[in-house]
Amino acid sequence: MKVNNHFQLTSVVADNLEAGLFRYSLAPDNKFISFNNSFLKLVGCTGVELSLKKIDILFSSFSDKNIFFNLLNRGGPVRLFHTKPKDKDDWVAVSAAIVYTQDKQKIIEGLVQDISHQKKMHDHIFVEKHFLENLLDNLPDAVYFKDIESRIIKANRFYIQGTGLAKEEIMGKTDFDFFSFEQAQEMFKDDQQVISSGKPLVGKIEKTTLSDGSKNQVITTKIPMHDKQGKIIGTMGITRDITAHANLEEEKFSMMINTLEVLGKALELRDPYTFNHTRFVSKIAQDIASELRWDAHRLLGIKLAGELHDLGKIAIPIDILNRPGKLSDLEYSLIKEHSHSCYELMKDFAFPFPLAKAVYQHHERIDGSGYPQGLTSKEIITEAKVLAVSDVLEAMTSHRPYREALGIENAKAELKSGRGSKYDPEIVDIAIDLIEKNDNKIFWKN
Ligand SMILES: [Fe+2]
Ligand SMILES: [Fe+2]
Repeated sequence: MKVNNHFQLTSVVADNLEAGLFRYSLAPDNKFISFNNSFLKLVGCTGVELSLKKIDILFSSFSDKNIFFNLLNRGGPVRLFHTKPKDKDDWVAVSAAIVYTQDKQKIIEGLVQDISHQKKMHDHIFVEKHFLENLLDNLPDAVYFKDIESRIIKANRFYIQGTGLAKEEIMGKTDFDFFSFEQAQEMFKDDQQVISSGKPLVGKIEKTTLSDGSKNQVITTKIPMHDKQGKIIGTMGITRDITAHANLEEEKFSMMINTLEVLGKALELRDPYTFNHTRFVSKIAQDIASELRWDAHRLLGIKLAGELHDLGKIAIPIDILNRPGKLSDLEYSLIKEHSHSCYELMKDFAFPFPLAKAVYQHHERIDGSGYPQGLTSKEIITEAKVLAVSDVLEAMTSHRPYREALGIENAKAELKSGRGSKYDPEIVDIAIDLIEKNDNKIFWKN
């Protein structure tokens, strides 16, 4: 039992404390006068050894000891001074004060706590936090965290630079402060959708205008953020600028379209009837597609499909193509080849819409009576169903070298009689409606 009454603790309590207790007598003695077992454990020596040591044993370096004594000599107590006992690898926190005994002896009374575990945790959290912040700030993507009302609560460096504002100016703001009303409303709707559904929004492509007026194309993913109880408390978003990539894709895309248009021109030079036909089929198909409310991409797809759907006829001898009178079975089978030849020409172009498939299927009928594969409704894509109706409408209403135009009424009658058997009923209704709205006249040459 080394602890005296000054600690106002019994030796049993003192020795069972996790914290180390000590009393150290200053000059002229300079020695430990009492301590508990935990203190011995923390400094790593026996009681006999400690009686021969100076207070330096508590500090890893001379400078640590100096700082500690400077603090102590200011008069007040020193609280939680972090150091490592000499030759030890464990961190401790020393709290101490200078007191005077009844016989006027100046001593240091102290308490030492093992803080290695907390220190390790703290260091770990610091490293993790630093790692995460470092990662976020060096990402060439905008990363942002928003609360339940879509207010920014944290954003990385890339995002902040994009707004052209200082970090402090961004916190608490919403997309309405940085983007046009329409854009911000769309973003707000996406945030709220993620919050209400709890499901992420993945890879949405958007066009945005930045604070400097530059327009860009971005791809955004938003995920819900949860608290410890699993409640959704906001969203985390990551937005990547894909303008350069999109421009490159657009360039590649327009090169492909140019190539196909050159092929279309070749067909025109060879057979002006077919060229006019494809131009008008394209117009009819676009008008029907607009009624179906297709987006700009799909409209462009159907425009091209219309222009190119008979490109395969380039392989058919011109006298068979335009000859008046009945064709032999062989000649007819040669003509029927054109949708397949066209498919072969286009199937390797990587379009973002099913161009090759649409032209391949434009002579298919929903009851399976068409060619070349005899597909039925479920197997025929909508683009091909639109082409089929447009194709019949144009072919029947236009003059051919081998026959006169059959007229709009006959074309309407053909569509009506084939409605639901050969042709998709909804598409037939749209086509008839377009004709009737145009005083029962051809609407594609307006
Ligand atoms: Fe055709
Ligand atoms: Fe055609």
